Amino acid sequence: MLAIRSANKTFESHGRVTKAIDNVSFDINAGESVALIGASGSGKSTLMRAICGLEILDKTSGELLLDQQLIQSKGELSPRIRRIRQEMGVIFQQFNLVGQLDVLTNVLIGLTPQKNAFQIMTRRFTLEEKARGLDSLEKVGLVDLAYQKSSTLSGGQQQRVAIARALIKGAKIVLADEPVASLDPESSRKVMDTLLGLAKTLNLTLITSLHQIPIAQKYCERTIALSQGSLVFDGPTPHLDEAKLTDLYGFSGND
Ligand SMILES: Nc1ncnc2c1ncn2[C@@H]1O[C@H](COP(=O)(O)OP(=O)(O)O)[C@@H](O)[C@H]1O
Ligand SMILES: [Mg+2]
Repeated sequence: MLAIRSANKTFESHGRVTKAIDNVSFDINAGESVALIGASGSGKSTLMRAICGLEILDKTSGELLLDQQLIQSKGELSPRIRRIRQEMGVIFQQFNLVGQLDVLTNVLIGLTPQKNAFQIMTRRFTLEEKARGLDSLEKVGLVDLAYQKSSTLSGGQQQRVAIARALIKGAKIVLADEPVASLDPESSRKVMDTLLGLAKTLNLTLITSLHQIPIAQKYCERTIALSQGSLVFDGPTPHLDEAKLTDLYGFSGND
């Protein structure tokens, strides 16, 4: 489903060179739910952005492929990236909803390539599109709030709206970058239950970066761990026991 071959990314700013991704390779099969863990600055976001084609890797990198379609290779983005991105749903730590707009319109934004708020507000959606939006909201359990202003929702509800927005186009793979980092434990649980429940029922492939290791342990069958840009663990999550975590991070990861 997803193939990462020798990903490398170097940043240079103010004369300081950071190797954000250091020769990372892995494959993810269709339907897998994978947690991407690692301390802050370990390269999780850079890797996720590279997979969506938002970050161009170094020339020394190999290929990134989604279903055998090229995302990028050797520092060049595929000319078909826009087409490939249609198959990806992306969720961020900040829910990025337009607070002034109702919930349904925020979900429908997932259908539109234009980003300008004015264009969105003046865009007329067809009945068929609205039905798709409501269907997507139904999946995250928020159809009753469709016509409520987004800013009135709780953080957890807003993130579930963001999930509905990410799924409205029928994405096959979902990339979630720290989706629960801004949420309290109860909201986090609801968001993760929603995300993983949908991944199962819709047979989605899911990659989610997580700051909290216990959440990875509860929800994801497989974990990939990064440390300073390098892949330091890739395997069944239960194999990440206290000894392994201490080995990787110098602590058990539960603090
Ligand atoms: N645009 C950028 N310019 C310079 N350095 C960057 C940039 N983006 C990320 N980095 C650096 O790359 C490393 C990995 O960052 P990031 O992928 O955001 O890690 P994580 O998501 O795991 O916290 C960090 O050292 C970060 O400072
Ligand atoms: Mg990050």
